[in-house]
Amino acid sequence: MREKLDKLRDELRSRIGVATELEELEKTRVQFLGKKGILTMLMRNIQELPVTEKPLMGKLLNELKQFAAGEIEEKKSQLLEKLRLQKQEAERIDVTLPGMRFNYGSRHPITLVLEEIEEIFTCMGFQIGEGPDVELDHYNFTALNMPPEHPARDMQDSFYTDKEMLLRTHTSPVQIRTMEKMAPALPVRIIAPGKVYRRDDDITHSPMFHQVEGLAVDRGISLADLKGTLLLFVREMFGRGREIRLRPSFFPFTEPSAEVDISCIICNGRGCRTCGNSGWLEILGAGLVHPYVLEVCGYDPEAVSGFAFGMGVERIAMLKYGIDDIRLFYINDLRMLRT
Ligand code: FA5
Repeated sequence: MREKLDKLRDELRSRIGVATELEELEKTRVQFLGKKGILTMLMRNIQELPVTEKPLMGKLLNELKQFAAGEIEEKKSQLLEKLRLQKQEAERIDVTLPGMRFNYGSRHPITLVLEEIEEIFTCMGFQIGEGPDVELDHYNFTALNMPPEHPARDMQDSFYTDKEMLLRTHTSPVQIRTMEKMAPALPVRIIAPGKVYRRDDDITHSPMFHQVEGLAVDRGISLADLKGTLLLFVREMFGRGREIRLRPSFFPFTEPSAEVDISCIICNGRGCRTCGNSGWLEILGAGLVHPYVLEVCGYDPEAVSGFAFGMGVERIAMLKYGIDDIRLFYINDLRMLRT
């Protein structure tokens, strides 16, 4: 019996030694220690041995069972550790590998310029005003001192939806809507960014484009306030060295009216192709709010005054980014977004 146990111990040792898989090891465990395993059966058979042999055999068998359980457990831990290392190796992350590149979206240059204009004016204390794109003829023209048949209506070729309604041709109707709402409160200080529409289409004119309207109404507002505000804006937008000049012009809703030029950003005022050798570039229309407009909106033109301006956002973006064809903003060429 002792020899048999020694043989079993050797066999067990070699089986455990060569096992490379957990299943193989489990098979050996079941074969030796399972319910019907060799050692379990031998344990049962001890009953049949002579009394004198029983204790010794029992002891040896128990030792062998403990030895088997211990060896199998140890081998199991080794195999599990090996598996863990293999898995870890397979999943290893090389943090020095170059990262994946994502395609980031970017904002349209017109959006960027609009945001910059809003930032500059809100820092000066202006609030943002709004009005509808589809506007009443009354707000777009009549209340702005352009009654039906007024020749100035032809200055802006319009898209009418019916007799009373049109796609607004400028952001100036927001002046009227704002003053109507606020009168007689002072001061009024708003800018109104938005889309406007005209029957225009060439390299400097688009049928849909953006304007930013500005309006300030208070006691004692003068042309000097208008010029100071616009000079500050232009220097924030285009750099400290920029100058502006006001040229007499005509708008029915301002008196006096002016067109505002900035010193050419390409040649710094010396004269070049972009500025037609004049050294100046036109960026907006402006003036002091016409007394008729103040009155229509509920303000006393004897007591208060105001200035207003309307700038073309595409025109400013073209100067800022050196773009020479306005249509490039709207043909969905992704290069416009990547630069
Ligand atoms: C106006 O629209 C006036 N409402 C501006 C104004 C407001 C004057 C308040 C006085 C007081 P004008 O039609 O000049 O004015 O247009 C203003 C600016 O819009 C122009 O200087 C130009 O930069 C831009 N603009 C005009 N038409 C187009 C167009 N089709 N495409 C792109 N930009 C345009």
